[in-house]
Amino acid sequence: MYLTPGAASTLGERLLQHGISRRSFLKFCSILASSMALPAAIAPRMALALSNARPCVIYMSFQECTGCLESLLNSHGVAIENLILDAISLDYQETLQAAAGHQSEQWRDEVIAANYGKYILIVDGSIPQDGNSGYFVSAAESGLARLNKTAAGAAFIVAVGTCASFGGIAHAYPNPTGAVGVRDIVKDRPIINVSGCPPIAEVITGVLAYYLTFQKLPTLDSLGRPTVYYGKTVHDDCYREESYEDGPRAKSFDDSFARNGNCLFNLGCKGPVTHNACSTLRWNQGTSFPIQSGHGCIGCSEPDFWDAGGLYVRGPEADAEHDD
Ligand code: SF4
Ligand code: F3S
Repeated sequence: MYLTPGAASTLGERLLQHGISRRSFLKFCSILASSMALPAAIAPRMALALSNARPCVIYMSFQECTGCLESLLNSHGVAIENLILDAISLDYQETLQAAAGHQSEQWRDEVIAANYGKYILIVDGSIPQDGNSGYFVSAAESGLARLNKTAAGAAFIVAVGTCASFGGIAHAYPNPTGAVGVRDIVKDRPIINVSGCPPIAEVITGVLAYYLTFQKLPTLDSLGRPTVYYGKTVHDDCYREESYEDGPRAKSFDDSFARNGNCLFNLGCKGPVTHNACSTLRWNQGTSFPIQSGHGCIGCSEPDFWDAGGLYVRGPEADAEHDD
């Protein structure tokens, strides 16, 4: 990743600098391809595309908690996985760059002008819809105006996180800032929603790798999310699924059923109605995911999850025959 002009090099050159062999990189590409349900034979093509690519990326943050960026940056401990981010030229990111205020806005204007129509815009955080509200102003410009100006020159937009995708927590009742997701404002650019609070880092990098390899967007569901990662529910591949059907289900978070891998549905798990790759990809390089840690899914990748029924409210089937 680079935030200064003139420091750019291809991923291939960076790999050499880090002493990473072509064999290791190909193996990494095979794993990445497999996470996207692509055949392993695609790995050499992906490796070539990633090695030579340097698309300009502008990453803008709006009403957010920085969790999405943290997820992207901190979940990758292994050098080769870090280097996937070197396949892009990250030319603007407010949290990481030194510039602020007018200086920062001027720099973004220059990046937009130099790459108009070609750059990828990544957005996290929700956008206050009323441009004159006074919320989220930088250098005397509203967040809404800044988004519209930057979106106009983007090849496509990646909305990272549930806030940028659907409004997230700021959109929850009573939504004092009129917060919405990018798709509610920008209507004339392709938008990929990578929802989740935060999203899984491998899903974000996988979406970028797919575009760099095939020069097209992945297939999206009706909510604009890549079907390869959001086509199934968390419940579909949950390892506790057997006791969802046949019981017994856990009655409290610390009972023996919860500890022994039984279903958490009666404790409010939203896995059956939540589309995400948590139960297959898992988190922190495949270590675990919320349900494996003993907590039900709260539906964080779905629209309105803060308002839709409560995080711990039991579903209507919860009192049925599998209660014990
Ligand atoms: Fe489904 Fe949740 Fe039970 Fe897993 S814990 S089987 S996701 S209801
Ligand atoms: Fe979110 Fe549910 Fe996964 S709460 S992190 S979608 S298990």
